[in-house]
Amino acid sequence: MTRSARQFVTPLTFQALSGNSVHTELFDAGQAQAMDHIHLARWADLILVAPASANMLAKMAHGIADDLLSTLCLAAECPVFVAPAMNQAMWNKAVTQDNIGRLRRDGVAIIGPAAGEQACGEQGLGRMAEPENICARILAGTDKTMRGLKLVISAGPTREPLDPVRFISNRSSGKMGYALAEAAVRAGAEVTLVSGPVNLPVPSGVSIIRIETAQQMYDAVISRVSDCDVYIGAAAVADYRPAQMEDRKIKKQHDHGVIALAKNPDIIAAVASRADKPFVVGFAAETDDLENYAGSKLRAKRLDMIAANWVGQAEGGFDSERNALQVYWPGGSCHLPMTDKDQLAEQLLTVISERMHEKNPTQDT
Ligand code: PMT
Repeated sequence: MTRSARQFVTPLTFQALSGNSVHTELFDAGQAQAMDHIHLARWADLILVAPASANMLAKMAHGIADDLLSTLCLAAECPVFVAPAMNQAMWNKAVTQDNIGRLRRDGVAIIGPAAGEQACGEQGLGRMAEPENICARILAGTDKTMRGLKLVISAGPTREPLDPVRFISNRSSGKMGYALAEAAVRAGAEVTLVSGPVNLPVPSGVSIIRIETAQQMYDAVISRVSDCDVYIGAAAVADYRPAQMEDRKIKKQHDHGVIALAKNPDIIAAVASRADKPFVVGFAAETDDLENYAGSKLRAKRLDMIAANWVGQAEGGFDSERNALQVYWPGGSCHLPMTDKDQLAEQLLTVISERMHEKNPTQDT
């Protein structure tokens, strides 16, 4: 127990309730031996810091060892898990997110935090994950929150041909969808990535279907979605295609030209309307009124969740290394602050796991 933890619960109460001895001091003048903290670190099969405050995460990220717990974590050779718990603004701060990224890169498994009402009365991401979810995550092994689940993820742009050499497309690089696929494999899932044309390596362990047009993406997704548990639509699918594709290159003739467009099928709406629908997560790319537009898409397409991102800004969204998401589901929302897409993908998968577990507590996510 840290000094702060002892402000909430006394070591005696903790000892009486848990039936275990409680360690508090790095050097206990009374009985402890000088190297007890090293023995304790070697004795442990794993270390879980729960709740992990912003301060403890910062110390762990920077190798500060100025009390028993931070020293144990630095001396540890076993797996280390942290279950962050703090005010939502503290969690959202760039410095906290940088520390989380650093810990993740050092191999520390991050569990949660969950979204909801906080002890201070504010709403947001920062509640400690529920103890049973923490236990399930640890028992499943490091980062195996999606073990046994099948995911279909769409990524990248579609290309809608005008003629053999020209097409209508958008700026999607595929980075967000590929990061999700990679994180889902790390979390133990079986992943099929349906990808538009992008310039990215296929993450190892992912099975890939390459497509060009929205119709091809529709066919590929529908052919794979019947036995999947989660569908994530991260692709930027063209809503329209040229009504007609010319067989030959269109010649320059007039000063003005008009392209007639036909509507493409809405892939995610088709997935969400199936009788055997998986848990369906959409994305919303918006230049304005994010909340309203994302909320309308969530309802109109009958999604379980939508991850909305600002696009057309200096950072985030299309073809950017980093992104931030405002995630909505029926009756709730949370903010995932600006960070690199790999980390953001892990955080979004955690939110998805928690929501799936809340919807169906018997399902092992
Ligand atoms: O690929 P990156 O460069 O990393 O950029 C990531 C991203 C900005 C493309 C990604 O984060 C994102 O926001 N993807 C969705 C972009 C989009 O097309 O949003 P939308 O609001 O137009 O569509 C809403 C949802 O419906 C999306 O899940 C989309 O995949 C889906 N959709 C849209 C049209 C259509 N015909 N079929 C669909 O399934």
